[in-house]
Amino acid sequence: MRKKVVAGNWKMNNDLIMSNDLIKSIKLKLNKKIDTDVFISPSFPFLNEAIKHCKGSKIKVLAQNVNENKSGAYTGEVSLSMLKSIGIDSVMIGHSERREYFHETDEILLNKLSNSLDEEFKVFFCIGESLKDRENDLHFDVVEQQLKNTIFRINKINFKNLIIAYEPVWAIGTGLTASPDQAQEMHAFIRKIIAEKFGDDFSENISIIYGGSVKPNSASEIFGKNDVDGGLIGGASLNAEDFIEIVNSI
Ligand code: 13P
Repeated sequence: MRKKVVAGNWKMNNDLIMSNDLIKSIKLKLNKKIDTDVFISPSFPFLNEAIKHCKGSKIKVLAQNVNENKSGAYTGEVSLSMLKSIGIDSVMIGHSERREYFHETDEILLNKLSNSLDEEFKVFFCIGESLKDRENDLHFDVVEQQLKNTIFRINKINFKNLIIAYEPVWAIGTGLTASPDQAQEMHAFIRKIIAEKFGDDFSENISIIYGGSVKPNSASEIFGKNDVDGGLIGGASLNAEDFIEIVNSI
């Protein structure tokens, strides 16, 4: 059985008080018996407090990024061991905003991925095509190449430590969502090529989640598709009611 996963990507939003308040509201509203894995991802300065506030709840804390080096002269960066020392064991890698604004190449992302898996972190690995790619009918090729350059270069992965987030760039923060059929088509494609590379058992068990303008009114139809195992939620995760409604749509 594949794990259902809903994660809130808070991006560069919320200060300390807002972050703590949002956690408190989510905690209050979250069904304690829920079977879905629920993650939130505050910014680095607030992770330590977030971990403390989430203790005893079903909410897990996810870092939005990590540096690929172990330690040293990398001003402004955060390492895996720093995250581990405050109790974080999940990290997001390859978000399109990191790829585009911070020039993170597949090579850098492969290093981040490989080091994080070595340290037994759970990795949310993001892939997805641009609008131009989709308009030129290159979306399958682009996604396949992103996988070939990164995840497929790793010999042995435990499916429990990897979540793939398909996030078409044209749907992020734009209000445009991939239609449920477009999401299903791409998720099925990803699962197929993963099966060819890592085998059926791996591909049947890995969670592939969708991200890109998921809102309370669109979540259940997307989550209802066979190969969609949950969502990576941006804007709507900053509001506790909306986020919980999305979590409950699975
Ligand atoms: P939005 O839900 O705001 O489109 O953001 C999606 C996203 O980038 C999640 O990582």
